[in-house]
This record gives sequence, C-alpha cells and structure tokens, in this order.
Amino acid sequence: MTNHAVWDLPSRFIHWCFPVGVGLMWWTGETGRMELHSYIAYVLLTLVVTRLALGFVGSYHSRFGNFLVGPAQVVAYVREGGQYVGHNPLGALSTVALLTLMLAQGVSGLFSVDDIAFDGPLAYAFDGKFIDVASEWHHTNWDILRALIFLHLAAIAWYQWRKRQPLIQAMWHGRTGDRVGEQAPVSTGRTITIAVIVAATLWLAITYAPEAPSYY
Ligand code: HEM
Ligand code: HEM
Repeated sequence: MTNHAVWDLPSRFIHWCFPVGVGLMWWTGETGRMELHSYIAYVLLTLVVTRLALGFVGSYHSRFGNFLVGPAQVVAYVREGGQYVGHNPLGALSTVALLTLMLAQGVSGLFSVDDIAFDGPLAYAFDGKFIDVASEWHHTNWDILRALIFLHLAAIAWYQWRKRQPLIQAMWHGRTGDRVGEQAPVSTGRTITIAVIVAATLWLAITYAPEAPSYY
C-alpha cells in the first residue's frame, strides 16, 4: 500500500510548534519576560531533542539516513533538480541545520544569564564556567538561526508558489498529490515515550542543578 503520510503526525505536530514557539521566544527574549521565556523553551527543547531522536528511530521519511545525501548529490540537485517524496537534498541540509541551531539555542539558554535578574537553570553548573560563552552564544546563535529561518521561509515560498509544489499542504496534511509514503509510520506512542524521557531528563537536570553561590 502506498498511501501513508510522508510526514507522520508527530513530525507535523513538532514542526508546527516551531513557528509558534520561536515567535513566542523572540517576543519574550526581546521584552525580558524571562520566566515565560524559560517555560516555553523547555517545551521547545524537548520537541527539538525528540525530533532529533526520530531522525534515528522515527518513521521512514523522518530518518536522517533516508534523506541526507552526499555533496555530489546536493550539487547534482542544484544543477538538475528532481522530484522527491520526502526532503530534497537541499531541504535535507536545511532540516539538519535548523534542528542543530535550535538545539544550540536551547542548550546555550540553559547556561545563560541576562544582565538583570534572570539566571538560566544550569548557569551555575560546572562552577559557572560556561556563563559568558553561553550568554554570548545565545545572542550570536539567534542571529544565525533567525537568518536561516528567513531563508527557510523564502525557500518554502519559492517551491510553493514559483515551482508550484504544495509543500505546505504536505507538511499540514502529511501527504498531497503524488507525495505519499510507501512505508507505514511507526507508532505515535514511540514519539510520546521519547518526549516523556527527554522532558523528565531535562526536569531532573533543572531541579538538581546547583544554585547561584551566595556571597552573604
Ligand atoms: C521558526 C520557524 C520554523 C522552523 C524552526 C522550521 C523548521 C523546520 C524543520 C526542522 C523542518 C524539517 C521537518 C522534519 O523533517 O521533521 C521543516 C520543514 C518544513 N517547513 Fe518549517 N520551520 C519553521 C517555520 C515554517 C513555516 C512558517 C512554514 C510555512 C509557511 C514552514 C514550512 C515548512 C515545510 C513546508 C517543510 C517541509 C519541507 C519539505 O517538504 O522538504 N516552516 N521546517
Ligand atoms: C529554542 C529555545 C530558545 C530560543 C529560540 C531563544 C530565543 C531568545 C531570544 C530571541 C533572545 C533575545 C536575544 C537577543 O536579544 O539577542 C533570548 C535571550 C535570552 N534567553 Fe533565550 N531562547 C531559547 C532558550 C532559552 C532557554 C532554555 C533559556 C534559559 C532558561 C533562555 C534564556 C535566555 C536569557 C537569559 C536571555 C538573555 C536576555 C538578555 O540578555 O537580556 N533562552 N533568547
């Protein structure tokens, strides 16, 4: 049967949480609403790590091994184009770059402090050694991530409206036209299990992290 979703429900759910979550992170980060910033970040970080795990144990088209290709194939795609059911070679690169930058943004945030009253929950782990580099990286990485997100949106718009490939519909419904998967998706329970384990690990790290040293 070749009538399965290209993007299974968990991948789609996780994906659409990104624009919502990143929008909220931008707003809370710029306006100093740090409590809210951190709570949304924990959800986003859990989703990013879960999506990365699905890159190894998720449904066929979500696995990195099934869409990442070598440089020669990327060059060939840029020169000659081609039709793909899942990510094309450029989309594959963009997927890995976006997920890596989202991960770096979240992890650096955990170790960051702002200049006023907020400390990331892991800022004083490792004797506070990473505070400076993490806080700096949280800003720089955001500039890179933001640029890549705009590139992502421009690329999607190009394929959607210039090349008339309904990528957005596929990401929303899981399939469109001839973009249907041949392989049945893995169970949604697998994603939920991974997400619960990731969230619990994060919660443990946050709960048991050392507090800021007191000088009084
Ligand atoms: C902060 C914002 C966003 C981030 C971080 C982001 C990230 C990603 C990632 C990581 C993927 C790969 C999905 C996977 O393999 O599971 C992806 C794919 C995709 N994104 Fe986004 N995205 C964002 C916003 C958007 C928006 C606003 C749209 C639509 C207007 C969109 C449309 C798509 C589409 C259509 C795909 C599938 C591309 C393909 O078929 O190869 N994204 N995005
Ligand atoms: C994917 C997750 C995250 C995103 C997208 C994100 C985004 C942002 C943005 C856009 C800013 C403003 C940056 C600027 O003005 O250059 C910011 C600042 C900040 N974020 Fe995050 N962040 C994330 C995760 C976290 C986490 C997990 C924490 C800690 C719990 C955190 C703590 C901070 C701190 C302390 C600042 C500095 C505010 C300042 O310097 O005034 N962030 N973040």
